[in-house]
Amino acid sequence: MKILVTGGTGYIGSHTVVELINKGYECIILDNLYNSSEKVLDRIKMITDIRPKFYKVDIRDKETLEEVFKENKIDAVIHFAGLKAVGESVAKPLEYYENNITGSINLYELMLKYNVKNLVFSSSATVYGDSFKSPLKEEYGRGNTTNPYGASKAINEMIIEDIGVANKDFSAILLRYFNPVGAHESGLIGERPNGIPNNLVPYISDVVVGKLDHLNVFGDDYDTRDGTGVRDYIHVVDLAKAHVLAIEYALKHEGVNTINVGSGNGYSVLEVIKAYEKACGKPIPYRVTPRRPGDIATCFADTNKASELLGFNTKLNIEDMCKDAYNFICKNPDGIE
Ligand code: NAD
Ligand code: UD1
Repeated sequence: MKILVTGGTGYIGSHTVVELINKGYECIILDNLYNSSEKVLDRIKMITDIRPKFYKVDIRDKETLEEVFKENKIDAVIHFAGLKAVGESVAKPLEYYENNITGSINLYELMLKYNVKNLVFSSSATVYGDSFKSPLKEEYGRGNTTNPYGASKAINEMIIEDIGVANKDFSAILLRYFNPVGAHESGLIGERPNGIPNNLVPYISDVVVGKLDHLNVFGDDYDTRDGTGVRDYIHVVDLAKAHVLAIEYALKHEGVNTINVGSGNGYSVLEVIKAYEKACGKPIPYRVTPRRPGDIATCFADTNKASELLGFNTKLNIEDMCKDAYNFICKNPDGIE
């Protein structure tokens, strides 16, 4: 069984490739290396003994993308490739729409042309916007997205649903990720964003290894148990395993399904700091600052559908997430270059 993984050298993609290989799938990775390194392929080999076939291709370049479909008999696609920085998307909306929408349309057109009818797409809890109260259920639909990144995910969901209406034998799972964190337990693959991280756990990791002086806690006056923002963190290895289950489901069923992938538990910023302190054995300096514009108080998943449809439940907890994030940053303080 051959799975094409777009964005497969990236953070979530690389962990998913490892889990797919562990389950005996053959992976073909496609990535333009905009936000990842070809060295990830060596790391995957160190973990699995297999170096997947790799194409350095930009999904916006349809002609080159078509070569991948011509050369390989692909059974299913997991589509991770895209840009993902919320703030940057506000500054560069057209780059985000071109990458995440035009690029994706190229991919979907080629899938239909080459009769590849199984897709798993990386969506995000961001599509709920600020419209609903947690626990967030898939049936709520899509809320008011507040930035071009979020809009690009919502538009992709709509495009895939419409492809499903027009092609009854098309099968897709739209996975709405909550907050993926952590790294593979080997410390060989993981995430270290370029520049100053925007997200909480990568920021804490940089503080812990001394790259940054302290963490700014964005607001302690939310209506939550300790006043700081509550999110649903999920270990990236659990998330990767959800993709294997999603692909298995897509291969067996027709139709388009939207599924949350979170743990169903919310942790506050102060609780994450505490868990990370336990993992690294040192105090994490922080200062409370005003709220970050656009943030909401609480966001966590209703996980019943993932459990019922895919048989997916998370196994790793917030301490595992912090322990593995710490292990990765200690071994790769500058990321995988
Ligand atoms: P990532 O940046 O590590 O991985 C994305 C990969 O796609 C990168 O390797 C990048 O080089 C590649 N890429 C980008 N544009 C491309 C293009 N035009 N052609 C080919 N390759 C291209 O990000 P990630 O955290 O692994 O996220 C994977 C997917 O999951 C993304 O679509 C992201 O929006 C989505 N997602 C991520 C999160 C998160 O918190 N990490 C949350 C929700 C959804
Ligand atoms: C962010 C994105 C969201 C994306 C998600 C993926 C924004 C506005 N939203 O969500 O679209 O899907 O990442 O994981 O960027 N925090 C601090 N200090 C920091 C960083 C964060 O206190 O330096 C707090 C935030 O206020 C929030 C929590 O930590 O309460 C988590 O923040 P973050 O990791 O950025 O994730 P989200 O805001 O949930």
